[in-house]
Amino acid sequence: MRTIAFFNNKGGVGKTTLLYHLAWMFSELGVRTVAFDFDPQSNLTSMFLSEERLAELWDNPTDGQTIVAAVAPLLEEGTGDVQSPHLENIARNLALVPGDLGLARMEDELSAQWPNCLEGVAKAFRITSALHRAVTLAANDFNAELALIDVGPNLGALNRCAVIAADHVAVPLAPDLFSLQGLRNLGPTLRKWRSGWQKRLEEAPSNLTGLPTGEMKPAGYVVLQHAVRQSRPVKAYLRWAERIPAEYRSAMRLVPIPEILTLDTDPNCLAQIKHYRSLLPLAMEARKPIFQLKPADGAIGAHVAAVEECRKDFQRLALRLTTATGMELPAPSLA
Ligand SMILES: Nc1ncnc2c1ncn2[C@@H]1O[C@H](COP(=O)(O)OP(=O)(O)OP(=O)(O)O)[C@@H](O)[C@H]1O
Ligand SMILES: [Mg+2]
Repeated sequence: MRTIAFFNNKGGVGKTTLLYHLAWMFSELGVRTVAFDFDPQSNLTSMFLSEERLAELWDNPTDGQTIVAAVAPLLEEGTGDVQSPHLENIARNLALVPGDLGLARMEDELSAQWPNCLEGVAKAFRITSALHRAVTLAANDFNAELALIDVGPNLGALNRCAVIAADHVAVPLAPDLFSLQGLRNLGPTLRKWRSGWQKRLEEAPSNLTGLPTGEMKPAGYVVLQHAVRQSRPVKAYLRWAERIPAEYRSAMRLVPIPEILTLDTDPNCLAQIKHYRSLLPLAMEARKPIFQLKPADGAIGAHVAAVEECRKDFQRLALRLTTATGMELPAPSLA
């Protein structure tokens, strides 16, 4: 099982849209996948589910079918431990653990327990590893080979708890100054979380099981192209885009290399995602990924070729990610 978090503290760079499409693509490739919505804004959940289903989930919190229900016995009530999260079936190989605005309430407790781990307090470890253990429980229940984690755009304690659950971290970026600044914050933060967790693990009571190793290995980055790029050459885009390969290496402390890499030649660049313009609203309306759109969904004329291009782009990206994370695809999908 592999766990990949999609993370950047710069907001609106297409993290959730990317994760949504990749989750569908991996499931098409035969990889049993669970998508986890750990962003309290719950945009991923809104993408996957109908308005009616969302109302059922969020209007009846007592039914406990979101991630909050799985961690509340430990984090809010303090009387129990993490429960197996409810799995929302999306497709044959795809399930979602729905998000919840209430996750934001847990930020303070997660923050307070982080230093307590240094004192070897068992409860502090149980709380800090709560999201990781929820991922493990859900992945086991679904017999999943892949867990994809979506988080909000910040470097807070909730995200620390969510990202520590991941073996790998992929960074979605936009080619602009904000994204480069985001990268410069992200690299040191990931290192701080990694070393901070390693230090805490040394203090963990020996009878505690299911704690994450907290590797958070850099899996590479994905660049979301700007809408305007396709209609006219945009100097600003090119200016920021050409800086990304070196900035990423430096932020992640990867060995610098003498050649000048472009996005097209950088092995860390997993993909450059097109701006899909009107196809994305069509896909959201139809509650499917762009590459599954049919003429009946409104994908007609030039859209037909664009839908096929999108499928190829995401197949390529999924393959790049499997290589970057050492995953194996099931045999039939290799044909
Ligand atoms: N490839 C794309 N083509 C067109 N529009 C896109 C694409 N990717 C994302 N968008 C749009 O950009 C906006 C932000 O995308 P998204 O919500 O995926 O970003 P995010 O990084 O998850 O944001 P946040 O930081 O708020 O979680 C949305 O309106 C989405 O529809
Ligand atoms: Mg998002």
